[in-house]
Amino acid sequence: MPADPPAALPRHVAIVMDGNGRWAKRQGMHRTFGHAAGEEALYRVVDAAIDLGLEALTVYGFSTENWTRPEEEVAYLMGLPGEVVAKRMAELHRRNVRVVVAGRRDGRVPASVLDHIDDAVARTATNTGLTFCIAFNYGGRAEITDAVRAILAKGLSPEEVDQDTISAHLYVPELPDPDLVIRTSGEVRWSNFLLWQAAYAEFVFVDTLWPDFRREHLVAALDEYARRERRFGGV
Ligand code: IPE
Ligand code: IPE
Ligand code: MG
Repeated sequence: MPADPPAALPRHVAIVMDGNGRWAKRQGMHRTFGHAAGEEALYRVVDAAIDLGLEALTVYGFSTENWTRPEEEVAYLMGLPGEVVAKRMAELHRRNVRVVVAGRRDGRVPASVLDHIDDAVARTATNTGLTFCIAFNYGGRAEITDAVRAILAKGLSPEEVDQDTISAHLYVPELPDPDLVIRTSGEVRWSNFLLWQAAYAEFVFVDTLWPDFRREHLVAALDEYARRERRFGGV
């Protein structure tokens, strides 16, 4: 049974799914074992997000800094979004989920992965339920840089550029800003995630390692969010 959603539900929740490697290490296993377990945690959380009626869920799948990891681990992580959409496509579609992707499409991302993603995005484009955004080869600084480049390429003059112009040139401009950002694994940092969009987000940091993250943890974070007083610089 879905848990009751808290009174003040965020429209958009973003998650830094961290701790897969440590989770695997604790069991004497290879880091990729942790990523596989993390994939299962992701499916559970997407299900919960649908049940709870969230408008949007963004998950940090691979950062622009994660290329510095060992080749074997990078190869594994590169395969994950394709796997997620391939394995869960029918169900996501049935549940009216719209899949979108935020990140740089550079030459390092295998073409087959981009094809899988593009197919999922196209097939679910008209769905009206949860927007499930996979941040993949994503970096907040890269995103802002790409937005500035796109604005310059259009030849806009300085007077024509305001904050809305920047927002309109981000990877997924139609997404509302995240209201709540959750990070697992006990690390209390941002790691180049949604730098522009999370300007006024509420943050919840939990010690749980991502593969252990369950619906209850999401509900607890939503409860915590509902207790926060958002002020946006006012009184
Ligand atoms: C998060 O877990 C998954 C990705 C970065 C893709 P980590 O792989 O960062 O796990 P830890 O932080 O090393 O435990
Ligand atoms: C952030 O986690 C990136 C993702 C979850 C994809 P990292 O594990 O890469 O972040 P740092 O290195 O601890 O800051
Ligand atoms: Mg980590």
